[in-house]
Amino acid sequence: MGHRALADRRILITGASSGIGRSLAKELAPFGPNLLLVARQRKPLEQLAEELLTRGAANALVFAGDITDPQTREAVFQQVHADWSALDLLINNAGISAHGRFVDNSESTLRQILEVNFFAATELTRLAIPMLRKGEDPLIVNVGSILGHRGIPFNSEYCASKFALRGWSEALRPELNREDIDLLLVSPGSTDTKFFDHLLSGKGSLPWAESKGIAPEEVARQIVRGIQRRRPEIFPNWRGRSLVILNRFFPRLVDRIMRRYG
Ligand SMILES: NC(=O)c1ccc[n+]([C@@H]2O[C@H](COP(=O)([O-])OP(=O)(O)OC[C@H]3O[C@@H](n4cnc5c(N)ncnc54)[C@H](OP(=O)(O)O)[C@@H]3O)[C@@H](O)[C@H]2O)c1
Repeated sequence: MGHRALADRRILITGASSGIGRSLAKELAPFGPNLLLVARQRKPLEQLAEELLTRGAANALVFAGDITDPQTREAVFQQVHADWSALDLLINNAGISAHGRFVDNSESTLRQILEVNFFAATELTRLAIPMLRKGEDPLIVNVGSILGHRGIPFNSEYCASKFALRGWSEALRPELNREDIDLLLVSPGSTDTKFFDHLLSGKGSLPWAESKGIAPEEVARQIVRGIQRRRPEIFPNWRGRSLVILNRFFPRLVDRIMRRYG
């Protein structure tokens, strides 16, 4: 099979109001897709939709709502059904985090992170599969993290959510293969977005200096390339990828480094 085409494709992106999701919508627009942008804040979505039309998108629709709410998820797919009757790409990108020791964070923080990063993705996917079955060359893109490969201290809730997303993605991929629905897992490392301003708790509380990370535009370019080239997983950030490789071959060494910060 050749490269995956993007022209006229019907694409739903969650977390499109900022960061990686916003950059991804902009990167996809020149290929001429139909986009449905989902996040809680309507204003930035509407501004983005206007910009996407000038960049070449065939259409750009907006759905403002909280994807942890089952009724919102149902309503999103009612809109997909009404406007498109099928879906070609589902991009589960919305995500949140918190910093701090597990013992100092609350159960509600843990549950909220799992709700956004894991359950919203699984339940949107459950609703999407019947629509993807009717789609053209269908694909699910799950935006995970390097921290779905290696746990690090002060990020336990986030790591749990991204490990869950990775395990579920791995299990789902072969199930969907028989229906010709592909799945791409994206595992970015540190990316320069507002993500760290949106933490539920523990802003600025890490015991190491955070590197600035790569630009979200670069992550978006690599995601589009991964989509076109039919990759099963991509690591957009070489530093993040190095951690995964180091951990694969020298897990005890990485354990020792992590213990120093614990
Ligand atoms: N930045 C990094 O260093 C990094 C590294 C690895 C992986 N990632 C992953 O990349 C993805 C995008 O993150 P980002 O860096 O672009 O962060 P970001 O700029 O904070 O964007 C997060 C997006 O998720 C949306 N969102 C959050 N909660 C939501 C909810 N309940 N319902 C609907 N939308 C919701 C936000 O929109 P509203 O506030 O408008 O709802 C926003 O559009 C996440 O899955 C994150 O885990 C990020």
